[in-house]
Amino acid sequence: MKESLCIRVQRQEGESIRKKLIELCVLNKDLKIRSSGKDLLIPVLTPVEGLGKLEPDLFEALDYESPLSQAPGAYELIGDIAIIDQHEENVMDIANVLLQHKNIKTVFQATSAVSGEYRTRELLFIAGEKKRETIYRENGCRYLLDVTRVYFTPRLSTERMRIAGQVRDGEKVVDMFAGIGPFSILIAKKFPGTHVIAIDKNPVAIRYLRENAKLNKINNIEIKEGDSHEEVAGITDADHIIMNLPHSAIEFIDAALGIIKRGGIIHFYAISHEDDLFAGIFKKIEEHARIAGFKATSLDQKIVRPYAPYQYNVCIDFRVE
Ligand SMILES: C[S@@+](CC[C@H](N)C(=O)[O-])C[C@H]1O[C@@H](n2cnc3c(N)ncnc32)[C@H](O)[C@@H]1O
Repeated sequence: MKESLCIRVQRQEGESIRKKLIELCVLNKDLKIRSSGKDLLIPVLTPVEGLGKLEPDLFEALDYESPLSQAPGAYELIGDIAIIDQHEENVMDIANVLLQHKNIKTVFQATSAVSGEYRTRELLFIAGEKKRETIYRENGCRYLLDVTRVYFTPRLSTERMRIAGQVRDGEKVVDMFAGIGPFSILIAKKFPGTHVIAIDKNPVAIRYLRENAKLNKINNIEIKEGDSHEEVAGITDADHIIMNLPHSAIEFIDAALGIIKRGGIIHFYAISHEDDLFAGIFKKIEEHARIAGFKATSLDQKIVRPYAPYQYNVCIDFRVE
């Protein structure tokens, strides 16, 4: 038995909190989750706020049977393509273990961080089938994508469900930085009465977004290719606006304020330092809203996932009145 810090949660919340901890990269995958009366104890690597009571306890070590759990390094899985972390050195060892798994066909390694206007990263082919396209399944939707030419991360899966959970059927939703459509398609599919307007500047992402609308049999989506500053022209009375461009969403806030309905909600993503996760960003948002003649009221402020040492990807949901 090994001692570890853990989170005490109610049994029915266990699975959603386990997924959240995986996204935050703090689940201790070497130890077995265990019961304690009516609760579950989930071992974590570092303290996490707001998910449940933190306490130390003893846990059994997991015995690894799956070749995947033995992969000696960090990687991300998108459909049947594995992408090994940029900082891993024993790349061939990791690739060989990954390719033993029947669901993994191709292995790349990231050779740069996500960068540039289209938020893509350099990938180097390592082993397996020589292909760049895959189909990724999430929250009941399917997404076709080329991992080398568009932005995509499976790590926002819970976040996308959280946003979709705030939408009501019949509403107008604008996804200003839609990529291949994981927010837009989920919302359009879950609520056939919504009108979803999905914008992106990357022509390749737009091509996949159109394919993905067909793949998921969605008709209630309007797809616009171009810069969101211009593409929002003519849109009015949006009930929700999703601004998932964390490094520079603030540059687009006036465009968003120009199309939001009174009482509408903006889901604003940012990267912030742990010393000031929300206050500094929200102050800027309030100032833009004030100049535009609105009042911004914060509804929710969330850490979505760790981004870099001391930095977090955060989301502020705020109402505009
Ligand atoms: C962080 S990605 C998010 C994509 C998608 N929401 C997702 O969760 O996978 C940001 C997206 O914004 C797009 N983008 C960057 N600048 C843009 C602009 N000025 N107008 C419209 N889209 C832009 C990029 O091409 C990229 O697909």
